[in-house]
Amino acid sequence: RNLELEQQLQAHEWTAKLYHFLLKNTEHGKPAMEYLKARGFTDKAIDTFQIGYAPARWDTLVQFLEKRSFDLGTMEKGGLISAKQDGTGYVDRFRDRVIFPLHNRNGKVIAFAGRVLGDGQPKYLNSPESKLFSKSRTLYNLHQAKSEIRKSRQFVLFEGYGDVISAWEAGVHNGIATMGTALTDSHASMMRGLADEVIVCYDGDNAGQAAALKSIPILEELGFTVKIALLSEGLDPDEFIRKYGPERFKHQVLDGAVSSVKFKLIYLKKNHILLEEDGKVAYIKEALEVIAPLPSPTEREIYLKELSADLQVSFDSLKQECNEMRQAMQ
Ligand code: UTP
Ligand code: MN
Ligand code: MN
Ligand code: MN
Ligand code: MN
Repeated sequence: RNLELEQQLQAHEWTAKLYHFLLKNTEHGKPAMEYLKARGFTDKAIDTFQIGYAPARWDTLVQFLEKRSFDLGTMEKGGLISAKQDGTGYVDRFRDRVIFPLHNRNGKVIAFAGRVLGDGQPKYLNSPESKLFSKSRTLYNLHQAKSEIRKSRQFVLFEGYGDVISAWEAGVHNGIATMGTALTDSHASMMRGLADEVIVCYDGDNAGQAAALKSIPILEELGFTVKIALLSEGLDPDEFIRKYGPERFKHQVLDGAVSSVKFKLIYLKKNHILLEEDGKVAYIKEALEVIAPLPSPTEREIYLKELSADLQVSFDSLKQECNEMRQAMQ
């Protein structure tokens, strides 16, 4: 048994409670509470996700931990506080930020993400990597979502904390998110056994769509059926839900999620001007590179027919070119 690790876990638990209390019950927490309310977070969401506030002071947490006889060196190693540059002591790591506790899959608090109340940088400050916390092995909200994921054999993958929380309030209880890193193999492996299907619901901006594209092979490699949710106007899921409501999010965005092949075709299409012949030719080539490797002949036929109708090119010539590509691939 590792005593240091146990003390760090215990301190994280206490710290989450402290920040949550300060947000809800003190004068210090008022601006943060107003910020959260203005964004549309409900009291229920604030409780369910144990959202908190770290005050704009240097020693709130240091004093709190000291009073509870935690060894500050151990706390610093656990990422809770920072050592002063001149080596004379410790200061709080999170100051004047809304705090989102991050849990491991068993529901133990292992890290925090702190958001600025306005437009400052960095937008989110995370706990450092430690024995307790590894970004590439942590999925936000997995501890609460796993029972619903197991039941439905499906999970929804988001980019951000706010997206998971808004979706949760909309009744989507199988949502999880990575911590501002791209999806890794270890993230995907953690979900194997829990689910067969994933809906990737990343932000509608260019960065989000590019990240969605990159996540496809990682997830398919592990055998997941991958669908991609499409968000209009570059909105992220949180913004979409606030603007258009939970019903449209569930029934239009999630139910309307497209296959990974369809997503790739939509994604590639955006780069070409289809009114021009060479644009059309270039898009067809890229589209066929997606369709040709598909092992199922009926699946290939379905996408070729769609492409044919979409671009007003004959099915026969598309099929012929597709077959030539397949032969070249062997
Ligand atoms: P986004 O930039 O999409 O932020 O980054 P967001 O979740 O929509 O944030 P809000 O709605 O403005 O509060 C997606 C995720 O990337 C991570 C966070 O996990 C964030 O939720 N991130 C982003 C960081 O870790 N640090 C940053 O500075 C920015
Ligand atoms: Mn509470
Ligand atoms: Mn984003
Ligand atoms: Mn976002
Ligand atoms: Mn957002």
